[in-house]
Amino acid sequence: MTALPTLSVTELTTERLLLRPVSAADREGLVELFTDPEVRAYLGGPRPRAAVEQMLDHLETAHVPGSYVIADRDTNEVLGGLWLNRRSPDVPGHVTDDGNELELSYALRRNAWGKGVAFEAATAILRAAAHELPDQSVIVVTQTANTRSMKLVERLGFRVVETFEQFDAEQALGTATLFSFRG
Ligand SMILES: CC(C)(COP(=O)(O)OP(=O)(O)OC[C@H]1O[C@@H](n2cnc3c(N)ncnc32)[C@H](O)[C@@H]1OP(=O)(O)O)[C@@H](O)C(=O)NCCC(=O)NCCS
Repeated sequence: MTALPTLSVTELTTERLLLRPVSAADREGLVELFTDPEVRAYLGGPRPRAAVEQMLDHLETAHVPGSYVIADRDTNEVLGGLWLNRRSPDVPGHVTDDGNELELSYALRRNAWGKGVAFEAATAILRAAAHELPDQSVIVVTQTANTRSMKLVERLGFRVVETFEQFDAEQALGTATLFSFRG
């Protein structure tokens, strides 16, 4: 099956942030992001460094649509990552019969928490997607125990419609219509 589209723009700027593809200079920051036990607490735990290095080797050469590094607009330092992908029908947690909904996910380095960075980045990406793509459901899945993420889900305007079990944990399924982010 042809992959359903996600947002096609490769770069976006906001008041404080630059959303852009991965670059070689992001290596240490992204290794930290994927191996930090606190960041990964509700994401299945830290990933092995070697696996992260291998993933970055790939990402530095091949741009993956819908995947963004969140960087500081002034310094270009990597603060985290944001993804707007399609949720495979093979995993639980859907709001449509066919699955493949647009799914938002995000992770920030520990020192970027508590500054509204994830909110600012997610709002910009969702707004851009709402101006590029047809109206449709957008979902976000996060562990109910992940208080910070649950707060962000609500602040962004998603409505939690269901909880379900995945990865031996309770997950919340939030949903919104894409056009609600048009602004
Ligand atoms: C989930 C995660 C991105 C939330 O980060 P966050 O910084 O709390 O989220 P926001 O960007 O919405 O920022 C909100 C916080 O910034 C504060 N803030 C400071 N300046 C702000 C500003 N200018 N605008 C908005 N909020 C601001 C808010 O008061 C709030 O802090 P509080 O919750 O302590 O009251 C972060 O905890 C994380 O990366 N976790 C690990 C990865 C993860 O679990 N991802 C979920 C999988 S989808």
